[in-house]
Amino acid sequence: MDFSKLSWEKRIDYLKEVAKLSDQEAEILQTGKLELTQADKMIENVIGTITVPIGIATNFVINDRRFLVPMATEQKSIISAASKAAEWTLSTGGFKAYNTGSIMIGQIQVLGINNYEKTKHRIFANKHKILSLANTQSSTRKAIDLRIREFKSPPMLLVELLVDVKDSMGANVVDSMCETVAPLIETITQGKTLLRVVSNLATERLVRVETTIMQDLIGGENIVDRIVSACSFAEKDPFRAATHNKGILNGASAVLLAVGNDVRAVAAGAHAFAARSGIYYPLSFWRKNSKGDLEGTVEMPMAVGIIGGAVSSLPTAKICLKILGVRKATELGEVATSVGLACNLFALYSLVTKRNACSSKKNTKYSF
Ligand code: MEV
Repeated sequence: MDFSKLSWEKRIDYLKEVAKLSDQEAEILQTGKLELTQADKMIENVIGTITVPIGIATNFVINDRRFLVPMATEQKSIISAASKAAEWTLSTGGFKAYNTGSIMIGQIQVLGINNYEKTKHRIFANKHKILSLANTQSSTRKAIDLRIREFKSPPMLLVELLVDVKDSMGANVVDSMCETVAPLIETITQGKTLLRVVSNLATERLVRVETTIMQDLIGGENIVDRIVSACSFAEKDPFRAATHNKGILNGASAVLLAVGNDVRAVAAGAHAFAARSGIYYPLSFWRKNSKGDLEGTVEMPMAVGIIGGAVSSLPTAKICLKILGVRKATELGEVATSVGLACNLFALYSLVTKRNACSSKKNTKYSF
């Protein structure tokens, strides 16, 4: 069955069958309905709502599981690009995804420290007490460790809480844990705390995705070479790397918007991660393997949740989550990252074959 060939009504019927959507859920999906009374509870000074189209990307097999992927985007061609690139991966088993878990970092900035070594010692000696106090803020999410970093000029100490936020995005609980332990940290350090807030550079919450595309599916070894060369351009030049990474975020952010996640947090984390060496690099890499086929990898932080926040309050987000059928937040991160890699691949393919794409109506369907 080719989803893209179905009428809009038939697509909804299909989702009712495979994702077990009720009539009411199907209705909400079609109207994009968010009552003003509900919107008024979400933000301030409400005057209305905006709707963005939601489509389904097909052909995604990730860790041997097949997904129908809702994507919310106003940008044409993104969903067909993701679906087409995902189709290329099917003959080699789709996408393989890995994650490092769901640990977020909370930062407490401490000023006015005189003796760094002694202070660090005192903080570590009180580690258990600090973590226990942090853990009064949640019965489900847990501060599991802390670490200390220091800067000499201007002088400051950072106490960082490592919090297992499980299936939530986690910013709120991490913020309140930081707030809660700040007075204790002031007593222990005899310094003054200033910022107490989550970090969006979620280096303890990474997702890595790999895939292989057989050369014949994309027009042979010559196209593989061109895509590899386009990638090395991004590896050399941050001006290109920013656009390369935008292609990844086109896919990842559309998935995350559909399921009511904080797209800005993920974008901030992605760009900071891309620049972690001091130079801004692409998040994905494309190489030719010994058989002449194309291999792609992407690695990026994925601070995403399937409970709490807008995920729970936006009616369409709940329905999109149901269609996607992810069981854990880490799995949502793996799907979003896979879709990012697929969009990145199709963007590169379109760019390196542009002359061909423009000469054929069929191909321009996927051009950007
Ligand atoms: C446009 O939305 C995204 C691209 O610019 C990405 C890229 O250049 O790799 C096509």
